[in-house]
Amino acid sequence: ASTLGAAAAEKGRYFGTAVAANRLSEPDYVATLNREFNSVTPENEMKWDALEPSRNSFNYANADRIVSHARSQNMMVRGHTLVWHSQLPSWVGGLDANNLRSAMNNHINQVMGHYRGQIHSWDVVNEAFQDGSSGARRSSPFQDRLGNGFIEEAFRTARAADPNAKLCYNDYNTDGINAKSNAVYNMVRDFKQRGVPIDCVGFQSHFNSQSPVPSDYQQNLQRFADLGVDVQITELDIEGSGTAQADNYRRVVNACLAVSRCTGITVWGVTDKYSWRASGTPLLFDGNYNKKPAYDAVLAAL
Ligand code: XIL
Repeated sequence: ASTLGAAAAEKGRYFGTAVAANRLSEPDYVATLNREFNSVTPENEMKWDALEPSRNSFNYANADRIVSHARSQNMMVRGHTLVWHSQLPSWVGGLDANNLRSAMNNHINQVMGHYRGQIHSWDVVNEAFQDGSSGARRSSPFQDRLGNGFIEEAFRTARAADPNAKLCYNDYNTDGINAKSNAVYNMVRDFKQRGVPIDCVGFQSHFNSQSPVPSDYQQNLQRFADLGVDVQITELDIEGSGTAQADNYRRVVNACLAVSRCTGITVWGVTDKYSWRASGTPLLFDGNYNKKPAYDAVLAAL
């Protein structure tokens, strides 16, 4: 196959990208997106601040533009993200526990209901664990007011809201075996043992020289898969350039392909010029939509 999406499909996987609604009017952006990718994740448009800026008042216009574009191109959509401490409107943080619980469940019900049947996988909860060696939960309005049970509650609500969507927990710095990924692993194992609905774990995979592709990446993906969940690489970008960057991308693709339950890879943007990492060149296409060595390495590995 001659494109990322088609090559991944031959391996029973998808190859996706984060998409920004306001770039869908740029012809080169859309041409590259439509040619190469068969899954999209809205980069910001499905976050709480975008969808529900004030309580129970929902704004779907930008997210809808991405979903309808994806549907017109037969692309899958990853929903990102329902419950996250960041890009959270300030009104949420001002609620007491009872109001926060009902606001969280209402947000999940409304948003998943709006997109019912159109989302392949939802990042139900994003980034709920701290970095470092503690393995503890991160402080957030949800954690601080509702306690550890908020994640389980969010997943149970999500299952009922769209029974056909895969429900994922998504995080960063969990790509290798470390205290943070151990904490997520223990949570997923507990959920599976107790029948809490969870289908997948997303590994963001934002890599740079401080946080390189871990040597035990494949092993880590595999241990999660062995718990009975799918694994997905959800926000891949790798700082660098040339051969070194290409080698790192190849390692990521090879790790996913070696794990039968690794169902797809999403890169966190189409082109370096719109990367959230403003100072870097972490993606597969340069600012002129030329294929980089990293692109060639990914396509060859798929
Ligand atoms: C980033 C977006 O790419 C930026 O445009 C935005 O300003 C901040 O969020 N982890 C996530 C993503 O789960 O939602 C983040 O996306 C990157 C880190």
